[in-house]
Amino acid sequence: MRALLVDRSLPGGLRVGEAPDPVPAPDQALVRVTATSLNHGEVKYGIAEAPEGTVLGWDAAGVVVQAPADGSGPAIGTPVVTLGDGGGWAELRAVHTAYIGVAPEHADLGAISTVPVAGATSLRALDRIGPSLGRRIMITGATGGVGRYAVQLAGMGGAHVTAVTGDPAAYGESLRTLGAHEVVSHPRDASGHYDGVLDLVGGGQLVDAFDMLGEGGTLVAVGHATRDGESFPDQALWGGPGRNDRSLATFHLMHFRGLGRDLTWLAGQVAQGTLDPQIFWRGPWEDVADAVSALLERRLHGKAVIEFG
Ligand SMILES: NC(=O)c1ccc[n+]([C@@H]2O[C@H](COP(=O)([O-])OP(=O)(O)OC[C@H]3O[C@@H](n4cnc5c(N)ncnc54)[C@H](OP(=O)(O)O)[C@@H]3O)[C@@H](O)[C@H]2O)c1
Repeated sequence: MRALLVDRSLPGGLRVGEAPDPVPAPDQALVRVTATSLNHGEVKYGIAEAPEGTVLGWDAAGVVVQAPADGSGPAIGTPVVTLGDGGGWAELRAVHTAYIGVAPEHADLGAISTVPVAGATSLRALDRIGPSLGRRIMITGATGGVGRYAVQLAGMGGAHVTAVTGDPAAYGESLRTLGAHEVVSHPRDASGHYDGVLDLVGGGQLVDAFDMLGEGGTLVAVGHATRDGESFPDQALWGGPGRNDRSLATFHLMHFRGLGRDLTWLAGQVAQGTLDPQIFWRGPWEDVADAVSALLERRLHGKAVIEFG
């Protein structure tokens, strides 16, 4: 099969080449992939650190060409969206049925391919905060792939949403269109107390966002885009009136069970237009270097979709 292979001698660190076809285990379906979307972690660290020739790729959408032998998964011909630790940037992917969502017939599989990491992370991180209805939720790194899904999902859940972006002048309008009630350039610039924070940036933004939590509030540390590290000032973790019982939770998407059901639901929302995947780059895999550099240079704020053909 053809695949995108790590090749750091080239701009973008990837080339289209040949790789062995995957052999599915009994509880895996074989999927013919038509589209994938890029994620911050695999692009920034995966391409830089994986052995040459590796087939990376967490997200992939396509059609089942071989059903799981144990009968646990979708039948041949089913359009699906899949999540895995790697192997998604290839024409064929063997994937465990727990990480397969079913897409609606005739859905745009390019749009659906954005769902696994960005959509499911947003959904599960908001779950970790708790009910959204009538709550105040802050999302840092809100212009990114995860953040744009999170703003929409928190709003759908009935939250008052504050979006944090380094450039509110450039991105404020689009974030408000997605459902943000308030757009600020730093957590410190928001006012009042929050029931939840979904933090995608880390460093000083995490520390300051934690300080915005009210009693019983939860900050979910999903992302670490800055890699700056966190240092809490004296008394930052003290309780007290209005400040008691605040929590900071770490997060790793692949550790959650039942993700297949989430992927099916998210794919349905994207297909019917209730969720907008916020695709800002879409093209063939021969042009992948373009998408990689746009993401790494922080010129692309949202999803990039690569189509295989
Ligand atoms: N734990 C997990 O399981 C899990 C799952 C998914 C993602 N993540 C992590 O969550 C984070 C967000 O993922 P994503 O796919 O949404 O990434 P993304 O599309 O690159 O978005 C990250 C956003 O963070 C903001 N940002 C602030 N400082 C930044 C910096 N120094 N470098 C880059 N961006 C910076 C940017 O917004 P502005 O320019 O508007 O400020 C950017 O839009 C990443 O760290 C990713 O690795 C973790």
